Amino acid sequence: MLSSRVALASGLLLIAAASETSEFCAGKAHGTYCVGPAIAPSLPLNHTILQCPTGERQACVSGWYCGEGTGQKPGKQTCQLMAAPVENVGSAVNVPTKEIAPGIHMPIVSMGTWTSGSTGKTENASAIVGNWLAQGGRGVDTALVYFDQAKVAKAIVDSGVARKDVFITTKIPGCAAAQASIDKDLKALSTDYIDLLLIHSDIGFSCAGTWKVLEDNVKNGKLKSIGVSNWNKKNIQDILKGATIKPAVNQISYSVFEHDDDTIKFCHDNNITVEAYSPLGGAHGGKSVFKDPTVTSIASAHNVSAAQVALGWIAQRGDVMTVLSSSKEHQANDADLWSFKLTDDEITKLDAIASPAIVV
Ligand SMILES: NC(=O)c1ccc[n+]([C@@H]2O[C@H](COP(=O)([O-])OP(=O)(O)OC[C@H]3O[C@@H](n4cnc5c(N)ncnc54)[C@H](OP(=O)(O)O)[C@@H]3O)[C@@H](O)[C@H]2O)c1
Repeated sequence: MLSSRVALASGLLLIAAASETSEFCAGKAHGTYCVGPAIAPSLPLNHTILQCPTGERQACVSGWYCGEGTGQKPGKQTCQLMAAPVENVGSAVNVPTKEIAPGIHMPIVSMGTWTSGSTGKTENASAIVGNWLAQGGRGVDTALVYFDQAKVAKAIVDSGVARKDVFITTKIPGCAAAQASIDKDLKALSTDYIDLLLIHSDIGFSCAGTWKVLEDNVKNGKLKSIGVSNWNKKNIQDILKGATIKPAVNQISYSVFEHDDDTIKFCHDNNITVEAYSPLGGAHGGKSVFKDPTVTSIASAHNVSAAQVALGWIAQRGDVMTVLSSSKEHQANDADLWSFKLTDDEITKLDAIASPAIVV
């Protein structure tokens, strides 16, 4: 039910975007697949990105074509039935962006890669990033201390998605050895620039000095934008005193269970984008958006998942987020936040879930 809803929503999005349509796919048990020419030609069939929902008819966008075995050809636009089930076929993901600094457009949802934060799971950064990019996701969140950057870099290359179309956020550990950390990050990610580099925490001897190094790297083109993570209002105020480039983003722990509204308001007032991490409450083992009665009742009212409600609440508050999922279906679900709209009353109820004891 969930995946067909996501596929249908994505299909409608693409149909709406088409200036001209070709023939229709007729979804069958194993589906037919529209393939985007931007990513398809060099890739095997299992990287196709739009599955016709079973029982639905769906147009391939002009310029797209349908896959059949290995005989795909750009320009061939008749959809055909696949001979066998294929792996790694997901629904199309199309995440809007937010301008976080002049000319820098960050996807509102990025896929996280901090796999050791999900206890008991066997996630793999390569598969997570590969699934996300194959479905159309473009924002990826990593950090030097995740020690996964070679996997992230390989997944990007393997996806066939151009580097310029991927938005990489990474983090240096703290306020020390900034230049060495930036260069290590660039090398580990096999890239000559980073879209958004954050200082992971305010720990270290000189955050003002570290910020100056980050600014220098914006000027020399190694960093497109810079920001902080886990910083409160006071930390940011200190940096702003001497900054020539303001932090573009503050990435903080932020979910319906925990939101530091003082810091969030300060960031909004100063045009600093707030990015939620652990937006499903990942870091709080005892609390689950999937069991919370406020979240689940709102989800039922909109016929969406609890994850969509918890993430949609963040997007509707004007903030961006990095979420983690190793499941293709969950990833597509986490990106489907614009096919429904929470009411003001629902937002207020979701705002109130955080208990005063954990609002910091
Ligand atoms: N800056 C920092 O200090 C910091 C700290 C923590 C995290 N982060 C970043 O934030 C990212 C996300 O945080 P997080 O991993 O702690 O927590 P999270 O995204 O809130 O939760 C992740 C968990 O939610 C599940 N999930 C995701 N979408 C789902 C869906 N639609 N339905 C059901 N379950 C779903 C995932 O399981 P499945 O895999 O089964 O979908 C995973 O176990 C990290 O990967 C990392 O990049 C940054």
